[in-house]
Amino acid sequence: MIVVSPEYNYSIPGTLKNAFDWLSRLPDAPFAGKPVSILGGSPGPVAGARMQYHLRQVLVFLDAIAFTKPEVMIGSINTKVDVTANTITDESTRQFVAAHLKAFELFVRRLRQ
Ligand SMILES: Cc1cc2nc3c(=O)[nH]c(=O)nc-3n(C[C@H](O)[C@H](O)[C@H](O)COP(=O)(O)O)c2cc1C
Repeated sequence: MIVVSPEYNYSIPGTLKNAFDWLSRLPDAPFAGKPVSILGGSPGPVAGARMQYHLRQVLVFLDAIAFTKPEVMIGSINTKVDVTANTITDESTRQFVAAHLKAFELFVRRLRQ
């Protein structure tokens, strides 16, 4: 699972937390043992870091396996993406998001072995 989210009031946006809360009550513990990658960004400099660490804390209770590095926290994200074209316009951001996804793919493959 790949989660991409902004940060709201130094934490997980309520709608995202609500989705995790509802899914966590399903009988088959849908997050248990599942790898989860978290990416975030913000117009500000801290770039959603607090959201990511709060979400990782939630994942501990759900027995999910949070992928940790390389972290993706995109500061000034409003200058680096084109939301109408659905693209990352900043080349270095594009590269480290790609590096994160590649590393996550390897992480998932290793877990499955
Ligand atoms: C209710 C609210 C709380 C926010 N809190 C934070 C915050 O704690 N840290 C931060 O970096 N940005 C914060 N932001 C700015 C968001 O990162 C930015 O607005 C982002 O684009 C939100 O996307 P959305 O409005 O599409 O959900 C907040 C925005 C909103 C609407």
